[in-house]
Amino acid sequence: MPYSRIAGTGGYLPTRILTNAELATRVDTSDEWIVSRTGIRERRIAADNELTSDLALKASLAALENAGCSPADIDLIIVATATPDVVFPSTACILQDKLGLHGFAAFDVQAVCAGFVYALATADQFIRSGMNKRALVVGAEVFSRLLDWNDRTTCVLFGDGAGAVVLEASEKPGLRTVKLKADGRYRHILTTPASIANGNLSGQPFLHMDGQAVFKFAVKALAELASETLTEAGLAPDQLDWLVPHQANVRIIESTARHLGLPMDKVVLTLANHGNTSAASIPLALDEANRAGRFRPGDRILLEGIGGGFAWGAALIDW
Ligand code: ACO
Repeated sequence: MPYSRIAGTGGYLPTRILTNAELATRVDTSDEWIVSRTGIRERRIAADNELTSDLALKASLAALENAGCSPADIDLIIVATATPDVVFPSTACILQDKLGLHGFAAFDVQAVCAGFVYALATADQFIRSGMNKRALVVGAEVFSRLLDWNDRTTCVLFGDGAGAVVLEASEKPGLRTVKLKADGRYRHILTTPASIANGNLSGQPFLHMDGQAVFKFAVKALAELASETLTEAGLAPDQLDWLVPHQANVRIIESTARHLGLPMDKVVLTLANHGNTSAASIPLALDEANRAGRFRPGDRILLEGIGGGFAWGAALIDW
């Protein structure tokens, strides 16, 4: 079969809600500052005993149910995460085991907030080559564990969660055009610069960000990539039905929508309640819109993600 197509979506958010008001009791910030600069009102925080693979498992089971398949129908697992359970084995292998499966390819993709689009592009290639028939593609993160909770410039931005899709071989086009980019010259503006050596953690284990540099880079890169992707697909911006962007900052998202001439009611927004869940944000947003019945068969949807690396990517899909 010549194409891959999304057959189902799933999402999971930890139960603990951390509001802006509660954050303002811990660091010098306010609900007004956070909402006006980012659009975020609250985020979810994983329990101490909840691992990335646990969030991934719940999102995966929901996606399988939504697709009407069982775990045994899956022959490939790709997990996008920058917060794996452990250095190795991969979270995908742990998820495979938690699903009661074994014997087929399972691996992680690390492209931070662009991770889901990278993972989707990878699964698409495996399916289109005929190597696999049905993949679980998951974005799952516990970014709360990378944050310095005394640093108001970063701790207000992120949340935990997982989203998943079932991607299967299809006669009908699903994924139409995928574009991936990276530029390692910008690796220092968003990084968690720690490593393990000789049994010790060396470097800075907290997320570090030059917020304004990230903002400028993201606005420009996402606008250019959206135009390139639509041009390659032979579509004009007004032929697009939905934008499902990475949920980092509502001002970045509004800028992309403006560039495309797309009204904001055609943009899926989950940022206010999820915060930035990194690789999980796009599949979570897809799932929320899917379950709300917002997509119609044949709708043209543009997914766009960007994050540390810098790495960014877009996928144009037919629903
Ligand atoms: N509460 C109150 N004040 C704050 C906070 C806070 N949480 N954080 C920073 N400030 C202060 C700063 O200290 C500064 O004070 P000063 O003027 O006294 O020095 C003032 O607010 C303005 O700070 P700026 O950094 O100039 O604020 P800016 O308008 O750029 O907004 C923000 C900061 C929201 C981080 C913005 O730069 C941004 O969104 N950048 C993109 C970052 C992003 O989305 N990162 C996510 C990861 S990357 C990705 O997923 C694409």
